Amino acid sequence: MPKHYRIAVIPGDGIGPEVVREAVRVLDRVAAQEGFTLERTPYPFGAEHYLKTKEIFPDSAFDEIARHDAILLGAIGDPRIEVGLLEFGIIARLRFGLDLYVNLRPVRLYAEHLCPLKGKGPEHVDFVVVRENTEDAYAGMRGFFKKGTPDEVATQEIIFTRKGVERVIRYAFELARSRGRARKLTLVDKANAVRAMDLWTRTFAEVGAEYPDITREHNYIDAACMYVVKNPEWFDTVVTSNMFGDIFTDLAAMIQGGMGIAASGNIHPGRVSLFEPVHGSAPDIARQGKANPLAMVLSGALMLEHLGHRPEAQRLSRAVEEQVRSGARTPDLVPLLGGPASTTEQVGNELLARVSAAP
Ligand code: NAD
Ligand code: IPM
Ligand code: MN
Repeated sequence: MPKHYRIAVIPGDGIGPEVVREAVRVLDRVAAQEGFTLERTPYPFGAEHYLKTKEIFPDSAFDEIARHDAILLGAIGDPRIEVGLLEFGIIARLRFGLDLYVNLRPVRLYAEHLCPLKGKGPEHVDFVVVRENTEDAYAGMRGFFKKGTPDEVATQEIIFTRKGVERVIRYAFELARSRGRARKLTLVDKANAVRAMDLWTRTFAEVGAEYPDITREHNYIDAACMYVVKNPEWFDTVVTSNMFGDIFTDLAAMIQGGMGIAASGNIHPGRVSLFEPVHGSAPDIARQGKANPLAMVLSGALMLEHLGHRPEAQRLSRAVEEQVRSGARTPDLVPLLGGPASTTEQVGNELLARVSAAP
């Protein structure tokens, strides 16, 4: 096991730098305890850098970042800047450029009170969403015709490739197997209306034949949104397309305690991968010490797991679990857990103490 990892860090915009600051403190502590080091290279990309320099994400920096062992990203997006410019110039650039075809989004309830659903506890909410991360409407095949006129036409193509669909479905079957729980994989699509999704239906059946030990299930996305609220315990591993996965995981985040908890990894197995929370830059609460750092910390745990440090990742998630059960909390969790509210830094301090004390 290597003793030294090189981590590219992009704190980004809004609450990004605030949550990254806490996450790296905690990650450094875990690493020190286990006898490895995380050497960080910070990168300034995001809104302030763009406003100062008009630079979004130069090729040279992309190439340099690609040579790291992993990437941590806070959040990108700023209301002063053209919609989507930085999000696509930075996040999507990394996802597509590094071919990070899996967006892994675990949905786990760490404490009963975090769940707004009546009668649902940690035993009912423990599944993982595998979101395809390189295709769909996100591929950027779009255009405007007669823009700004009454006859305007706007298009954006949804694209799916056999290769792209097959590899993410295969990853999800392997994950369903390795989780070793319900051994169940649910395909979520909209093949009844978006007929191009027949490619998903067929590929799921074909690849699934190689996994006779995994039960195959299917939900249309509209029904999946209903079931995830009605019976979240029905899900174990979910595989879905890029845009449905985006939407479904914000909804799923709410049954595990909200955007402040939900973590994600943008993964290409065996290659440099990117870890970031599901949430965005939350400009409404930026620079007020209100941001919940736990989603970023849990994304860091996913990074540790990707680097081969699963026991350390599990130790970190147990510390987060204790934190939400009995520790300080940021204002987003106060309606669920009760008061008083603490700051981002206070939660970071306590978590650091918990990690240090844990065996
Ligand atoms: P958002 O996720 O930033 O915020 C949605 C709501 O959740 C807000 O009320 C916010 O205060 C709350 N929230 C989010 N993270 C939180 C945290 N850690 N602690 C406490 N509360 C938290 O979504 P949005 O408002 O739709 O987007 C804001 C900007 O972020 C936009 O520019 C968008 O494009 C961008 N964005 C970026 C990413 C990313 O970097 N991966 C993801 C989503 C959105
Ligand atoms: C996410 C975000 C991004 C997405 C945006 C910022 C482009 O919402 O990571 O979930 O849609 O993938
Ligand atoms: Mn999203």
